[in-house]
Amino acid sequence: MPGVEQVSLSAVTGKSHTGGPFVLVIFGASGDLTQRKLIPAVFGLFCDKLLDEKVHVVGFARTQLSDEQFRQRLAESTQKYSDRPWDAQAWDRFAGRLTYHTGSYDRAEDFAHLRQRLEQLTRELDMPSNYLFYLSTPPEQFSLVARQLDDAGLSRRGGNSSEGWSRIVTEKPFGTDLESARRLNKELLQHFDERQIFRIDHYLGKETVQNLLVLRFANAIFEPMWNYKYVDHVQITVAETVGVGSRASYYDQSGALRDMLQNHMMNLLCLVAMEPPTTLGADDVRNEKVKVLRALRPIPPDCAMYGVVRAQYAAGQIDGKDVPGYLWEPGVNPDSMTETYVALKVNIDNWRWSGVPFYLRTGKRLPRRITEIVIQFRPVPQVLFNAPPLGPQQPNLLIVRIQPDEGVSLRFQVKQPGQAMQTHAYTMDFSYAQLFGRRAPEAYERLLLDAAAGDSTLFIRSDEIEAAWTFVSPILAGCDLLRRQRLPQYPAGSWGPKQADELIANEGARWIVSP
Ligand code: BG6
Repeated sequence: MPGVEQVSLSAVTGKSHTGGPFVLVIFGASGDLTQRKLIPAVFGLFCDKLLDEKVHVVGFARTQLSDEQFRQRLAESTQKYSDRPWDAQAWDRFAGRLTYHTGSYDRAEDFAHLRQRLEQLTRELDMPSNYLFYLSTPPEQFSLVARQLDDAGLSRRGGNSSEGWSRIVTEKPFGTDLESARRLNKELLQHFDERQIFRIDHYLGKETVQNLLVLRFANAIFEPMWNYKYVDHVQITVAETVGVGSRASYYDQSGALRDMLQNHMMNLLCLVAMEPPTTLGADDVRNEKVKVLRALRPIPPDCAMYGVVRAQYAAGQIDGKDVPGYLWEPGVNPDSMTETYVALKVNIDNWRWSGVPFYLRTGKRLPRRITEIVIQFRPVPQVLFNAPPLGPQQPNLLIVRIQPDEGVSLRFQVKQPGQAMQTHAYTMDFSYAQLFGRRAPEAYERLLLDAAAGDSTLFIRSDEIEAAWTFVSPILAGCDLLRRQRLPQYPAGSWGPKQADELIANEGARWIVSP
């Protein structure tokens, strides 16, 4: 493509493009995630010829299904959820690689059968016994499945055996607080080595999230200004239009703090704030992320009680349609105190960011689906153009749009043409769609391929997840102290409660979203 230098992160890090031959074993294969994300992602990789021709998928779940029923189900769901045009012929070729294994997580015999089946499969296909175990089960089952795999001789700790490798991928949520995350880490590490464990946060698989590294460290112009001397504050917004949908049984126990802040938003924060890593290797990148998490100024429970804004959506309108309030959603406890919105100010106590507030907000049923990072630079001195009558000038803004209209924009002042000295705030815009004109790979496609290639850069290490929970757990404890008080409400289709506007306005700023 003219004007576009083709250097990929994979080229730089020397990543394998296919991950070689392996069997993907999905636990929880009859569930929602398998249908909505995992199989569409594997099928996408298959269509793009990014999978080795021997890759096979084995679904494992309690529901009784034949191979044929499993395939039929997945054909329907993939057609519905994949963002590619449906290719029936490709599906027919792919479907032959899908098999189903009925089993219960608490029955050792079912895992012994699974092992036999995997051995038979790899023998028949004449491939090494490389196994990627994907835990798409409720998190309460993670330790049990890991133990059963170990007992069945499938975990193969202590390095790759000559016959192949075993790796385990865990979905979120990874724990519900610091203590449960530590326990889960400990339990998993009894059965698998850390380098075999891939804790997913699908935000890290998003192309634009990875672009944060490129933007910051492949350009000379941003890095010198990326600090307290030039940055006034940073905003991270993750806004969704969807409500709780059919996930009330999970979400009502979880809320925005656990569902979005502890993982996705913490990862965005780390990538914006971290120091340049020495290499793009997994440990170098993750070491720098952990340092950011450790430098976060703790928000103790008594400060969290009033300093962290939490709210629930009330009835309102999204895209012109009436939608019910959170408490009226099917499956939600009518007295629920679970937040669907959270906003807070975060301080990073290190040399780079001392004194620079990071404002974070996320919510469901907001007017637009938009995830973006705003870097607002300091105002220019109050002389020349920033003094009356020309000032105050709008400060420079760098906006990184993570989704859906992926891109980057930079606002700066220019002179308006004419005899008078008048300034005009202009925004220069880069749009992925316009420049590259093709779809970005789905986050799960990238992550599955990386896990199969044994690259854990975009996965969360045990100390990282514990550091994130160390920050979030006292906030949760503070919220618990308020459990008798009703949460503020915001109408669905609005930008959240007024308390969130006050949080940022008290410090002389306001929330910003791209037009
Ligand atoms: C999931 C949360 O991890 O991320 C959901 O559990 C949320 O509640 C989703 O809707 C958002 O992901 P995305 O990729 O649509 O921004």
